[in-house]
Amino acid sequence: MGQVTSLFCPRCGRTYDPTGSHESCEGCGAVLELAVNLDGLGRAERDALLASPERGLFRWWPFLPLADRACVVSLGEGDTPLLQAGRLGERLGLQRLYLKNDTVLPTGSLKDRSNAIGVSRAVELGVPLVAVVSTGNAAASVAAYAAAAGLRAIIMLPRETALGKVTQAAAHGAEIVAVDADYDATAKLFAAAVRAFGWYACLSNNPYRNEGKKSYAYELWEQLGGEAPEWIIHPTAGGLGVVATWKGFNELHTLGWVGRLPRMVAAQAAACAPIVEAYRSGSSDVQAVLAKATVAESIRVGYPKSLGWRAVRDIRKSGGTAVALEEAEIIEARDLLARHAGIYAEPAGAISLAAAARLREEGIISSRDLTICMITGHGLKQAELRAIPAPLASPIEPTLDSLRRRLEQEHPVAR
Ligand SMILES: Cc1ncc(COP(=O)(O)O)c(C=O)c1O
Repeated sequence: MGQVTSLFCPRCGRTYDPTGSHESCEGCGAVLELAVNLDGLGRAERDALLASPERGLFRWWPFLPLADRACVVSLGEGDTPLLQAGRLGERLGLQRLYLKNDTVLPTGSLKDRSNAIGVSRAVELGVPLVAVVSTGNAAASVAAYAAAAGLRAIIMLPRETALGKVTQAAAHGAEIVAVDADYDATAKLFAAAVRAFGWYACLSNNPYRNEGKKSYAYELWEQLGGEAPEWIIHPTAGGLGVVATWKGFNELHTLGWVGRLPRMVAAQAAACAPIVEAYRSGSSDVQAVLAKATVAESIRVGYPKSLGWRAVRDIRKSGGTAVALEEAEIIEARDLLARHAGIYAEPAGAISLAAAARLREEGIISSRDLTICMITGHGLKQAELRAIPAPLASPIEPTLDSLRRRLEQEHPVAR
């Protein structure tokens, strides 16, 4: 149990040596997926897991892709509250509305679920440095876990990153490179840098790191007394939250630990909704869209290349849907959450509630459906409504040469 049994391409099925360093398929280019050995997990193991006094994400060890407990880097992530939102539910006409409050994770966003695993894996591999490109939340999270592990962290951020998130990442001692470009161009530069410098990337192309968000499924399952909800609505950028939560519930279903599967919903800003567009068009792949400005800046990803196609596939398999929300709906959801449920979320983190309201209004979710909204980022991270430029004085041009020069100047050994 708890061991990786296979590394495979989820698109074309090609298999790889799990002890090797492959991340993408040589045949079709898709990001690889891994499978953890769940043989031997029976009723007794289930009962032992539920009775265990251990708390947090790592208590789900048999489902995690790590081999060595001594390498775990934990800040106490996981086990976030599942709150029944009575007042809010009444207002929206949802009698069984629940909020999964991930704003209370150690760095204030859902990213701690994946980075706890990603950085622990880096420690297992013995790499000295972890790197990430981010709209801000992953930056702060990777920086914090790297600090706890004693690893160097290189963080690349696009032009418009909320001040709170930049400050947070910098506070942990990460080496920050601000790029004078939007997220998608910054991500391209990051990919080139990973190839050029051999960095360990704590990103959605890292199959180990991606397993961390499966913990959503295990926690919800336990919190709901062994049930699955009818609907899970997730603020969506790259698509990992949808993909991993769905995978976690499928594992529980295969083990016979849960009787049904949830319908997965991706919530995106209308200003940047590539996954919604792919879902609506019936396409099996996701096309790049122009990422327009939105208050939901953390999920402003125009080309979710790594996992977007899997999110669309899983939404369809689950019988779910994908919703694009207008700016006013997102802001209203953030305010409703704060005023009627006592949770202060950043706009992207509240967009799931906007989607619940819309789907209820359209009659897609019925008043009795057990509906979970993932609330994924704390409000203090982006207290200003619109994104403001990172305070870093001199962003670089989005080219590998500029990055090379910056690394030479400021971080001479960062390779
Ligand atoms: C607050 C917040 N919610 C949701 C997401 C979406 O994550 P995913 O990549 O899992 O779709 C992000 C990702 O950046 C985020 O910062």
